[in-house]
Amino acid sequence: MKRFPPINPKFPHFLHGGDYNPDQWIKTPEIRDEDMRLMKLANCNTMSIGIFSWASLEPEEGKYEFGWLDDIMGTLADNNAFAVLATPSGAKPAWMSAKYPEVRRVTVDGIREHHGGRHNHCRTSPVYREKCVAINTELARRYRNHPALLVWHVSNEYNGDPCYCELCLAAFRQWLRKKYDDDLDQLNHEWWTAFWSHTFTDWSQITPVDPSIHGMMLDWKRFRTDQTIDFFKTESAPLREYTPGVPVTTNFMGTYPGLDYWKFAAAVDVVSWDHYPSYHDRDDDWKQAVEASFTHNINRCLKGGRPYMQMECSPGVVNWKPINKLKRPGLHRVEALQCVAHGADTVQYFQWRKGRGGCEKFHGAVVDHCGHEHTRVFREVTDVGKTLLKLDAVIGTTVTPETAVIYDWENRWAIDQAAGPRNKGKNYLPTCVAHYRTFWNAAVPVDVINMDCDFTPYKLLIAPMLYMLRPGVAERIEHFVAGGGTFVTTYLSGIANENDLCFPGGFPGPLRRLLGIWAEETDVLYDDEKAIIEAVEPNPAGLSGRYDARMFCDIIHPEGARTLAVYKNQFYAGKAAVTVNTFGKGKAYYIAARNDDRFLSDFYTHQIRQLGIRATVQSALPTGVTAQVRTDGSREFVFLLNFTRDAHVIDLSAERLRDMEGTGEIIARLQLPGYGAKVLVRDCR
Ligand code: GLA
Ligand code: ZN
Repeated sequence: MKRFPPINPKFPHFLHGGDYNPDQWIKTPEIRDEDMRLMKLANCNTMSIGIFSWASLEPEEGKYEFGWLDDIMGTLADNNAFAVLATPSGAKPAWMSAKYPEVRRVTVDGIREHHGGRHNHCRTSPVYREKCVAINTELARRYRNHPALLVWHVSNEYNGDPCYCELCLAAFRQWLRKKYDDDLDQLNHEWWTAFWSHTFTDWSQITPVDPSIHGMMLDWKRFRTDQTIDFFKTESAPLREYTPGVPVTTNFMGTYPGLDYWKFAAAVDVVSWDHYPSYHDRDDDWKQAVEASFTHNINRCLKGGRPYMQMECSPGVVNWKPINKLKRPGLHRVEALQCVAHGADTVQYFQWRKGRGGCEKFHGAVVDHCGHEHTRVFREVTDVGKTLLKLDAVIGTTVTPETAVIYDWENRWAIDQAAGPRNKGKNYLPTCVAHYRTFWNAAVPVDVINMDCDFTPYKLLIAPMLYMLRPGVAERIEHFVAGGGTFVTTYLSGIANENDLCFPGGFPGPLRRLLGIWAEETDVLYDDEKAIIEAVEPNPAGLSGRYDARMFCDIIHPEGARTLAVYKNQFYAGKAAVTVNTFGKGKAYYIAARNDDRFLSDFYTHQIRQLGIRATVQSALPTGVTAQVRTDGSREFVFLLNFTRDAHVIDLSAERLRDMEGTGEIIARLQLPGYGAKVLVRDCR
């Protein structure tokens, strides 16, 4: 098992801190001194600085003001603390928007946006790129040897939102010429433009505003990812030149659909992401926690298991959801340890101190408007910091799961844009999360990967709604199963190629041979309707009795596959609803309908047992409690996390787990309070 190096070897400990805006407090220097006192009190050691500081750093074109930043960098260093230092491109200064209109985006209707807001520059604008490179060069040269410089935080939450300016449209057409070898016929074929007379006869006619041309819209999204990465590389170049040893990152946004993070991840040194789940908005907090774990898993997998940074989360409430409930006592700690449990080597916040004005003045912060440390939030943050101080041994460790779920951005784009068979409630992400839930409850670690990843490390590969198959994917899945792997897929799989052209010859297209079925039709149901499926008895897949199926029901014909469950109602009663096909040394399952949670639980519980997939702890955990693991090959760090408001007692007598937060005693019975979390350790077996 490999241990990855710390994010920056200069500081091999957990980073704990937050977004800090000293430039909002330039006129009150006493605040800065007080912040240093509070930072130490809260067991914090880093501050993310300068994220939106362009107007303070370059108040006039070419006239730089680094005094305030020098001060804060120096103060951090004096206090043995560090800066996650940002480049300021997330928000542009007013003088630039006024002098160079091209830096502002153009809307789909061709209107140049006003100055204001943030995250809204044109990615193509040569002026904007030039200005970014200039200021980033100044920053990199000035702080290259600064003891406080730890990580570069490039820009902020890049989005893939479109800009329809002439520069962007020209860049898109150029991108297309490259992709289609300058061959417009080829493009017309791949985009199926004979439909509705959409044939293009000149590249200049292509304007990505027509959602009826699916191939074009997919390419437009791909272009925007490539364009954003190109922008990121351009603005990072001076950082890489002057500070080659300082890791460069930009904060991602979980499963944000606008950018394909699988492509972006290759361009950053360390993955970082911002996490804002909604707890307490429903009865089952733990279901939100499952989704959070799923997304943490993606971030760990983006760089092959390498620990990532939790760049932002709120220490208290956010302010931008329709209803912003306070985090219940304890939730902050269990959330923080959850992110560590899945592979984060940092716990960082938005924000350190609430500003007095602007639209984020009511967003949670470590330091509230009252200005002192005697708050619940401050105490909870301090407590997280105290725990992190004891977890140095966890730094750089990871996990190598035996199970993977495929969650693929391009697949999501294609599913979302498809017209039919149900246009509402397609729910690709929630479906993938639902397939993960049993593993979370059973304390089984899982990777979340995309369809280009290597499948060979896994025993079980789950690909819900694998609508799109890029070239070679079906062959790699066949190879995986032939070699002994178990593959599970569902309705709406094997439908279209990478340009969203349907596979001729019967669905699930290139997976038909592997799955041993033909999906002739897909029925869809209204929200309140259901189909019933029933397990065949005796059942080799752990299914029993009847289950509800909703929304999507494929009508399939086994072609060599064995039927495991059949529909009991609808006009397809009696037809196969779940099948398994033996292929080489492995098995391929097809789940033809969107079945209920009990189905998923029975099905995957059986797979875990049958395939001998290892769980982090052997004892059954109460619903809403999970155990996650990281290891360096000789020790396992086990995180017990309770996402329910009830206290639970967990039997760990078979585990030989020692308390990592206390004196190291063996814990046989763990008392977990509501929203409680505990870090334990054992030697590897
Ligand atoms: C994002 C941004 C931050 C802040 C927070 C508020 O994550 O990066 O600047 O606006 O949201 O939750
Ligand atoms: Zn543009």
